[in-house]
Amino acid sequence: MMGTMGKMAALAAEPGEDAFRKLFRFYRQSRPGTADLGGVIDFAQASPARGTCHKVLRSPLSVSSVSEQDACRAGLQPVSKWKAYGLEGYPGYQRHWVKQCLKLYSKKPNVCNLDKHMVAEEIPDLWGQSQELLRNKDVNKKKPRSLLEKLRWVTLGYHYNWDNKTYSADHYTPFPSDLAYLSKQVAAACGFQDFQAEAGILNYYRLDSTLGIHVDRSELDHTKPLLSFSFGQSAIFLLGGLKRDEVPTAMFMHSGDIMVMSGFSRLLNHAVPRVLPNFDGTSLPHCLEVPLPDALPAGSIAEPCSVEDWQVCAKYLQTARVNMTVRQVLATGQDWEDKEIKTMSESSCHLDDKNNEAKRPRMNPNS
Ligand code: OGA
Ligand code: MN
Repeated sequence: MMGTMGKMAALAAEPGEDAFRKLFRFYRQSRPGTADLGGVIDFAQASPARGTCHKVLRSPLSVSSVSEQDACRAGLQPVSKWKAYGLEGYPGYQRHWVKQCLKLYSKKPNVCNLDKHMVAEEIPDLWGQSQELLRNKDVNKKKPRSLLEKLRWVTLGYHYNWDNKTYSADHYTPFPSDLAYLSKQVAAACGFQDFQAEAGILNYYRLDSTLGIHVDRSELDHTKPLLSFSFGQSAIFLLGGLKRDEVPTAMFMHSGDIMVMSGFSRLLNHAVPRVLPNFDGTSLPHCLEVPLPDALPAGSIAEPCSVEDWQVCAKYLQTARVNMTVRQVLATGQDWEDKEIKTMSESSCHLDDKNNEAKRPRMNPNS
């Protein structure tokens, strides 16, 4: 927001004023036709505001979903003439979620794929064990792999049982409040006002990892959306139909993308066949280069991420993708006692790669 900075500095903050309120006041007193408005993104111009750090991206619309006739009836232009934009914005916050996935959520009482190789007394601190190894890692040298590099999945809240494909009342630990809050906001923006984050599956992909074709149907209320957040290297995501014989649609999932599976798409087949390495194998997506802002907003759920911590995360992400999926398991007001056992048989699959220690049955796409 370089354009507004000089002006902003001139505007003295009132005691106890947060960043939002300060900018609110700045724009309230702004004068048209002056440099005051230089930091405002103008979608009509389809060009980013001078000095802004948020890139404006064109978002595709589902042109075929609304007929020209239906649009016309609503007094709207044909959808092909609409323009939708997204903001590549608030990038610093991605760092918070990456750090949580690697440093905090990987800890007990959460459950992870490495647990079954360990005796309870010896559960190591994955982050503590891995940070030196990762920091000194030479991409070109074969070194022993750190535990973080062997991490494939973590479960949160109601811990998913991979063997019987159910969640249960007696395997629950508190769901992280920051991720629950983020999920609530995203769900609400999509029209799901009472979404409760009750279970999470975090996926840690290496460049050779894949996620087999599956449907997420173990949750008991399929009218609630499933939220999926992606960080690090990009992946190809395949979204298919209700049946395996429908040809899926391929789409990129880039760092910072949020996918909401709801309504008809809630029970569609999907998979991740490929994580794409950065061509030189070193750099991170541009949006991860930006640190968290020095002054976090009042009541921010993110805390600052230290330079040292980020160095470890950045090194890890050079060859990795982290995906957080958040689910509501029970219907609103439903109780485990009300639950009629209805386990649908489904082929099991989860992260699968050449070095995966915790081998899960690999899906055969033709089975
Ligand atoms: C899942 C899932 C997709 C992804 O965890 O169920 O579908 O993008 N993840 O990693
Ligand atoms: Mn899934």
